[in-house]
Amino acid sequence: MRLKVDGKEMEAREGALLLELVQVPTLCHHPHTETRGLCRLCLVEVDGRLSPACATEAREGMEVWSDTPGLRALRKTLLEWLLLTTDLSLAPELQALALALEAEPGRWGEVPGRKGREAIEDNPFFLRDYAKCVNCRRCVDACGDGIMGVYALTLTGRGLLAHPTTPLDRPLPETPCVFCGNCVQVCPTGALRPLTEV
Ligand code: SF4
Ligand code: SF4
Ligand code: FES
Repeated sequence: MRLKVDGKEMEAREGALLLELVQVPTLCHHPHTETRGLCRLCLVEVDGRLSPACATEAREGMEVWSDTPGLRALRKTLLEWLLLTTDLSLAPELQALALALEAEPGRWGEVPGRKGREAIEDNPFFLRDYAKCVNCRRCVDACGDGIMGVYALTLTGRGLLAHPTTPLDRPLPETPCVFCGNCVQVCPTGALRPLTEV
């Protein structure tokens, strides 16, 4: 099929995601977990409307823009809110993106967030440091439907304070966790990280 991306005609295979055709930042997307379109960093303009590139398939005749001033402003705002609410000290790619977009989180004042949450060390293998969690839900999906089918992780809280936890907030050794490490592998911000690296 043929479509237009950033003003250029392109050929794409049937069922291709726009993410395969454009260069945009991503955060919640991972090839082995369910795509939920949560972070919005990958938004592109499709025929005049905003759509997540990670969750939108190419269609014949589509017109896609991936790097307009409006999209850059949107990504900058998203990054500013991530910086305000979350400790991104172990997420160098997000820090670099914030720098490139000239993010100024201070312009929003103080907002509640996850920073300051105590890290949880309840097993010998990895730490759960939700002050660094961007709530992408990749770990929950990796533990559940995406890879393991174990369901030792779930979600708690709402809005900016939402983050994963264990069922009933139990220590991990008291859940069905088999310590496979898949959740650690898919975590993009170091919120879950091996204890050997702490
Ligand atoms: S380490 Fe435990 S919590 Fe993480 S994916 Fe594996 S089973 Fe789930
Ligand atoms: S702990 Fe990591 S993988 Fe899980 S939701 Fe938070 S940032 Fe995403
Ligand atoms: S990567 Fe597409 S919405 Fe997060």
